[in-house]
Amino acid sequence: MIELIRRGLGDIKPYEPGRPIELVEKELGITEAIKLASNESPYGPFPQVIEAMKKSLAAVNRYPDGGSTFLKEKIADKLGVSASTVVVGQGSNELLRLLANVLLNPGDEAVMANPSFIVYPTVVKLMLGKIVEVPLKDHRHDLEAMAGSITEKTKIVFICNPNNPTGTIVKKDEVDRFMESIPENVAVVFDEAYSELVRDDSYPNGMDYINGKSPVVVLRTFSKVHGLAGLRIGYGVAPEFIVEAINKVREPFNVTSVGQAGAICSLDCDTEVEERSRLNSEGLAYLYKEFDRLGLNYVPSHANFVLVNIGIDDREASNMLMKKGVIVRSGGIFGYPNRLRVTVGTPEENKRFIKELEYILKISVV
Ligand SMILES: Cc1ncc(COP(=O)(O)O)c(C=O)c1O
Repeated sequence: MIELIRRGLGDIKPYEPGRPIELVEKELGITEAIKLASNESPYGPFPQVIEAMKKSLAAVNRYPDGGSTFLKEKIADKLGVSASTVVVGQGSNELLRLLANVLLNPGDEAVMANPSFIVYPTVVKLMLGKIVEVPLKDHRHDLEAMAGSITEKTKIVFICNPNNPTGTIVKKDEVDRFMESIPENVAVVFDEAYSELVRDDSYPNGMDYINGKSPVVVLRTFSKVHGLAGLRIGYGVAPEFIVEAINKVREPFNVTSVGQAGAICSLDCDTEVEERSRLNSEGLAYLYKEFDRLGLNYVPSHANFVLVNIGIDDREASNMLMKKGVIVRSGGIFGYPNRLRVTVGTPEENKRFIKELEYILKISVV
């Protein structure tokens, strides 16, 4: 009966999400586990956002606004674009799939870095597209090699900036050169899920390229610094012809009314976003200091996670940490054995992670 399943799916591995806190606690019979595995915000939604969502609850007997009209207008105003170029989805994950749905014919190619966000290969395979992976260079996108991998079959280039799982960025002058060098009929997708956390002047804003010669899509999300991952809401800015195509195939009510209300309010929280970005960079600085003390190499990050080389088996280490109530990602999933990808938590969570990491490193020494 397997032949009933669509061609191409056999090749796709299910997404392996970070394990939920409640599940880990139940399975291991522990309490007060902390999750530093999915690059979520360790803080809740902003208080005023919770209020806005509460208010919207009384009307959930109605379907949401299928066009996310007010949210799209708010995003458009904030970014200085027309609302007709904005698209909202169930997280940027859904928008990645929709982009593949509307852009890729079987055999079309999509260029991406490797390792990078693991959803890109999945959405390309789903459409029977061809994945063209370009190895990272010094943990960063090699934009020159990526441009060199473009053929007449290339439809999409994914630029994950900052890159997940390395936390590295490509710089403005590199992107300028890249955009100059590529053909006009290739869509460039800037996945900027962590953009609000970047505190580096050389970081380019994908929005600066939307009026250039190539079609550009900029994806952002409320799942990270806004602390709304559970709501599943993200957005994109894209040329009208792509937005129109997406509107043909997306679910009619793909974004909940509570999600829309929360996101609209959260877009007004610039001060709070800045404060969280500052806290994140303090958290990174603390982790670096502790990694240095423990003699561990890491990739300096511009996002809310960091890839650290622990010098021992990553699966074993993450299992040991899990038993201690600290949930992190083992690097092997991304092709980085002996590394962990750890999300920046609250100061207390970061301390606890370091304490347990130090303990497991001590007992693992042979
Ligand atoms: C680079 C990148 N893009 C997109 C996403 C998806 O985010 P969401 O679907 O929650 O908006 C993530 C989530 O981890 C990510 O790391």
